[in-house]
Amino acid sequence: MTESTTEHWNTRYGHNAPEGLSWFEASPDLSLDLILGRSGPSDAVIDIGGGAARLPDALLAAGYSDLSVLDMSDEALALSRARLGAAAQKVAWITADIRKWRAERPYNLWHDRAVFHFLTDRDDQQHYIETMRQAIAPDGHAVILTFSRAGPMTCSGLPVQRYDPLDLVIRLEEVAPEAFKLETSGFADHVTPGGAVQSFQWSVLRRLDRV
Ligand SMILES: C[S@@+](CC[C@H](N)C(=O)[O-])C[C@H]1O[C@@H](n2cnc3c(N)ncnc32)[C@H](O)[C@@H]1O
Repeated sequence: MTESTTEHWNTRYGHNAPEGLSWFEASPDLSLDLILGRSGPSDAVIDIGGGAARLPDALLAAGYSDLSVLDMSDEALALSRARLGAAAQKVAWITADIRKWRAERPYNLWHDRAVFHFLTDRDDQQHYIETMRQAIAPDGHAVILTFSRAGPMTCSGLPVQRYDPLDLVIRLEEVAPEAFKLETSGFADHVTPGGAVQSFQWSVLRRLDRV
């Protein structure tokens, strides 16, 4: 099985039209709903593993002015920058591996669609959760979408760890006790450009304190 490397992702984005990638969404409606329900336009939002998703376009259109997109693939970020044109200058683009990265400033909202589930190594999960705890401002939120227990066992040819919302809460509690409260969660199907149905869970968590 291939490993999750920068080369893997740069090849995926470099050799395929974004519209053909299995995780492509023409409009990130669920993420947008969840983000708009928990934040306002002056809040700082970071999209972890944002890839070439159209979320920054939608948030800019909603008036958000403090947006960051992090991804280990500079090919992916280049696609988004090219799509956005001059508006790309309003977004902070961070090329980094979330398994090593630490935030240098606070964010009010942390969004992750289909990235945490690639972390099958428990040390990598721990680093991610500690980074998330450190990065989110008090009373800020995390919106995390992963494949659910009913979802596929691989994504982009890589193994994934599947979660139902309760599984996610348990893992967060193990690493960061009492740092997050699950506010709301659910399940949603994503239909890939090839017509496959993938079951996701989504969870909205509030950052409780600065432990
Ligand atoms: C399945 S895609 C989802 C992209 C985007 N969130 C979306 O919904 O369209 C996973 C993304 O996570 C990025 N990624 C995977 N592992 C990563 C890591 N360890 N650090 C940063 N980005 C990562 C990939 O480059 C890719 O853009």
